[in-house]
Amino acid sequence: MSQRRVFLKQLGLMTSAFTANNLFQQAYAADIERAQQAISGFSPEQAAADEDFWSVISQAYTVNPSIINLNNGGVSPSPKVVQDAVERFNKLSNEAPSYYMWRILDQGREPLRMKLANLAGADPEEIAVNRNATEALNTVIFGLDLKSGDEVIGTKQDYPNMIQAWRQREMREGIKYTQISFNFPIEDDAAIVDAFAKAITPKTKVLHITHVINWVGQILPVRKICDMARSKGITTIVDGAHSFGLLDFKIPELGCDYFGTSLHKFLSAPIGSGMLWIKKDKIVNIWPLVCNDKPRSTDIRKFETLGTRSFPIEQGIGEAINFHEAIGSKRKEARIRYLKDYWATKVKEVPGVKIHTSFKPEYACSICGVSIDGMTPGELDSALFSKYKIHTVGIVWENISCVRITPHVYTRTIDLDRLVKAITEIATTKKTKA
Ligand SMILES: Cc1ncc(COP(=O)(O)O)c(C=O)c1O
Repeated sequence: MSQRRVFLKQLGLMTSAFTANNLFQQAYAADIERAQQAISGFSPEQAAADEDFWSVISQAYTVNPSIINLNNGGVSPSPKVVQDAVERFNKLSNEAPSYYMWRILDQGREPLRMKLANLAGADPEEIAVNRNATEALNTVIFGLDLKSGDEVIGTKQDYPNMIQAWRQREMREGIKYTQISFNFPIEDDAAIVDAFAKAITPKTKVLHITHVINWVGQILPVRKICDMARSKGITTIVDGAHSFGLLDFKIPELGCDYFGTSLHKFLSAPIGSGMLWIKKDKIVNIWPLVCNDKPRSTDIRKFETLGTRSFPIEQGIGEAINFHEAIGSKRKEARIRYLKDYWATKVKEVPGVKIHTSFKPEYACSICGVSIDGMTPGELDSALFSKYKIHTVGIVWENISCVRITPHVYTRTIDLDRLVKAITEIATTKKTKA
């Protein structure tokens, strides 16, 4: 093949991530379309129980068949189509990094911004692409002008990286960081909103709200909290690490000012990808975390001066969005909630077993805590892995002590049957020995 033809072929392959002729369409569109036809006319809840449809989705992943991974809340795998895109872009980058990354792949960022904006229901000028939720939210936490004495309210159940960022501002600048504490599960919006409202003082400037609590999966009534805060002139920052790509919502509907998320959790984008959304008129307020020549500008791109980062990972996000959209947000949310309820309903009556998460759809989806009387989370986590090869995570944080179970779209009900059997056997053995 002539050099020119080789180049044109590479260019065609490479630009495919941001054109209609993408990898997803080549690999899966026909399979998924056939599977979708079989469930057309089903409501998302009816489709949630259709194992034939979900087995097509499951097969698109390359997960290890010997381990049941139920810690998707930590980080999620990408379907093969996303992995292939990253690999392809990586190989290309290594042919001549500065040429392919900076002159070619870099052109994919604006189409990607549009794709993400479409998914988020936002203006592309409000979307910055970065590496994870920590980076997105630390950008806002460190970038907001606050003076000594100004108060920020968060919760003891927020994510440690955000708590530490606020504490650092407290140490350096003398802001006051107050944490309220919840006993989850809570099935009462007013109780949650009131807890935030009661902590507000005339000096409160910011509420930090975690949309889905990572430890036990509690969904907070973000819209109601933000409406209450706005009525008092208070800024709201939402940690959406576990909500984006899982729950069917558009970011502006939350009524917040700032929203940060990882894309490598429920969106199944390449590992090491994230997104920051800032309401258009608030962009000017935030100093970039990493330098920019116009730090006070209103251009969201001022948050993307990250230096050399992985362009292959960034461009792989587009394929993850294609994959997500082929499933459909409503259907995905319904399926993952179905999976959570599937196993948790079966074990909740087993003597000695306690579920730490609500069964009401508005308060939980996917993440669910479980414990067995007389066992620490570490012991239960080890027992699940050593005998049953079920990978989970033990949680001991503030007032929470349980094992966290997080299914994803590729999780099969037969995997959850094994989880139910394992929990039942472990609880029964524990009781017999006690
Ligand atoms: C609620 C919450 N926020 C933020 C993060 C940080 O995500 P990342 O490691 O992608 O920055 C996590 C990670 O699990 C999380 O659970």
